[in-house]
Amino acid sequence: MVTKKIAVLFSGSGTNLEAILQKLHGKIFGDIKIEVVMTLTNKPDAGGIEKAAKYGLTSVVIDNKKFASREEFDVALVDEIKKYDVDLVVLAGFMRILTPIFTENLRAINLHPTILPLFKGAHAIEESYKSDMQVGGITVHWVSAELDGGKIIAQKTFSRKNRTFEEWEAKIHKLEHKLLPKTIVEILKKDQ
Ligand code: GAR
Repeated sequence: MVTKKIAVLFSGSGTNLEAILQKLHGKIFGDIKIEVVMTLTNKPDAGGIEKAAKYGLTSVVIDNKKFASREEFDVALVDEIKKYDVDLVVLAGFMRILTPIFTENLRAINLHPTILPLFKGAHAIEESYKSDMQVGGITVHWVSAELDGGKIIAQKTFSRKNRTFEEWEAKIHKLEHKLLPKTIVEILKKDQ
């Protein structure tokens, strides 16, 4: 049995962090055991802090506002995460544009609430809803220096039907809470 260590980074309510903690933390999948060894946020008031605390995890807070540049912030992130010797970094609603300082030093995946490469950026759910596309979806991809541009690992789509914006958003989150944990397990098992 090999223990695989992951770090989860978040900026907001942390429902995806919670799904990871519920479904993966301390659990065994074949010959691996997964542990969330650190949680980290850039927002001192992020809802995910409380969710992590329920699992006995004290989130590291690195407030990006305290740094003069993206690069300095990323140095602090990398230094902190490196202390935990993780197998994978998971960006679960971590709303920061990352520089090569981060992307070249950490092996990370990101969750995005659209079918990439469509609707990159921070307003993706709204933009995808307002488009005339008849399908929506979500993506898990490797993090690269290009925003929302790394190699795609997994996607899930759904049909528009007559969904309101709230229903569209809820559908996205429902799919995310399944696909992200599933993809993490697949990556860590493949590493074996
Ligand atoms: C998720 O919908 C995720 O796809 C999105 O932030 C939300 C976080 O929700 N990420 C991005 O838009 C990244 N560009 P949560 O805090 O409840 O997990």
